[in-house]
Formats: sequence, structure tokens, C-alpha cells
Amino acid sequence: MQHLVDTDDFSDSQIAQLLADTKRFKSKHPPLLLYNKLLITLFFEPSTRTRSSFEVAAKRLGAAVVHLDPSRSSAKKGESLEDTFANLCAMEPDGIIVRHSKNDTPKLLAKMHTSPVINAGAGNYAHPTQALLDLFTIAEHFDGDIKGKTIAIVGDIVSSRVANSAIRLMTRMGMHVLLVAPEQFMPHSNLPQYRNLDDIMDKVDIIMSLRAQLERHETELFEDYDDYARQYCITKERMHNRDILLLHPGPVMRNIDISDAMLEDPRCKVLAQVKNGVFMRMAILKLLLLDA
Ligand code: CP
Repeated sequence: MQHLVDTDDFSDSQIAQLLADTKRFKSKHPPLLLYNKLLITLFFEPSTRTRSSFEVAAKRLGAAVVHLDPSRSSAKKGESLEDTFANLCAMEPDGIIVRHSKNDTPKLLAKMHTSPVINAGAGNYAHPTQALLDLFTIAEHFDGDIKGKTIAIVGDIVSSRVANSAIRLMTRMGMHVLLVAPEQFMPHSNLPQYRNLDDIMDKVDIIMSLRAQLERHETELFEDYDDYARQYCITKERMHNRDILLLHPGPVMRNIDISDAMLEDPRCKVLAQVKNGVFMRMAILKLLLLDA
């Protein structure tokens, strides 16, 4: 039984297979490879992209999907996470896709060995499917030539599971990762750190902008997000005519993370990431449910 807690659950050859399958599925929709499979989605935190993307991916491959809304489940009557999970597993799904605010939830559920667990975002620790779809988007743009490319991750890095998974995966793929954030948003890290966004604009091939995750801050870290935006918003003026690929996992805080005008710019791949996400999740479901 293979789980996906973070991308290091996949070998190099499995990652290569995921990239190849994603490309193949994008050029030609595959047959109903998972027509007899059943997945359950269990999201303890809100989601627009990840949950619907998994559901679309599963249904495009012919799988059935059941969603349990924890806010209307017996978790509200005090049932523990482990008991909720065990009861869902008793229905013999082929996989359970979980999002949770705690970093160790996917690992804890995977250790129960009752169903493959797919991490759809855990605390600020990991969001492996986002990292993989971002890797595909980068590889697609650079025609596979990603080794040695430099990516700057900009914004609320300390709160971001997207950043953590991206750092682990992109460095593993031989890319250089720079961190750009105000002190409040900067994690402890050995990676190169910058306070001033303008200092890195001529050093990078890719910028990954992140949302200020107000819901994860125990105290208000910024009094004035206009001031934050002046320093860290990705604008047309900042990008100028540079050939930089601009990514953002969403949801985008318009004119704080990325300006309205820059969101319309062809260098900005926010919706391409969402589109690629469906094909990458199809590839991940195929790998976990059929190949592994
Ligand atoms: N990228 C991402 O995780 O978006 P959602 O929170 O909408 O799923």
C-alpha cells in the first residue's frame, strides 16, 4: 500500500513517470482507468482548487468519489479523527484524500495501514500534489530543462505548506531556491534569504508568489497590508520585460500578492497551474491506485 504524505514518498523514477503521464493525459484524455475504484475526500479545511481538482481527476478516470464534510459529520459529536478514518476505511475505499490543519495528520492516518492516504494539504508542513503540479508547469515551460534553474519563493513562507513541499521537491530536482520575505514571514532555513524583492529580479527564472495566510497567524503580523503589498506584490512594473515564469498556488490576494494587471499577463501561469493540476492528480491517482 503506497501513501502520499509528501513527495519523498515517490522515487525519482515515479516522479519521472508522473511527469510523463501528466503530459500524456494533457495531450489525450486517457480511458476510464479507475472505473471500478472509489475515493473518499475528507477536507477539514476549506478548498476550492485541490478538492475539486481531485474530484475532476478521479471522475475523468471513471472513479466514484464520496465527499465527507467534517463540519456536518460525527466529528461534531466528538468522534476522533482516527475513529472517523477507521469507519470510512471499513467501507473499503481505494484511497482517502485528506486535508487537515495539523502537520502530522496524513502520516498518522497512513500508519493505520487501512487505506492509501493522499495528503491534500497538512498544516504548514506539506502539500505534495501542489508541488508536483508546479514542477510539471515549470518543466512544461522550460521543455524539461529545469536543472540549475532558480526559483524565488516570495511571501508568507513560514506558514506555507506549498513552500515547504516546493523547497523539498525543487531542490531535489536540482533547482536553486531563494526565499524572499519580510522577517515575520521568513522561516529558519539554510537557503539564501532576501528581504528586498527587487534584489532578486535579475537572478531568477521563476517566481512563486504566496498568499499571506492570515488564518495561520496567532497574532497580527502586519498592521498594514498596503505596506506589505508595496514591498512584495508582483506587478508589471517589477517584472518589467523580464522573462520570468510567475506561479501562485491560489487563492491569490489580488493587488497584495499579484497585481490585477500582472494576473492578465501571459507570464503568469495561475490558471495553467490549475489546469495542469487535474492532469497531475490523474497521474498520481493512477500511480497510487493502479501501478503501486
Ligand atoms: N492551492 C490550493 O491548495 O488551493 P485550495 O486551498 O483552494 O485547495
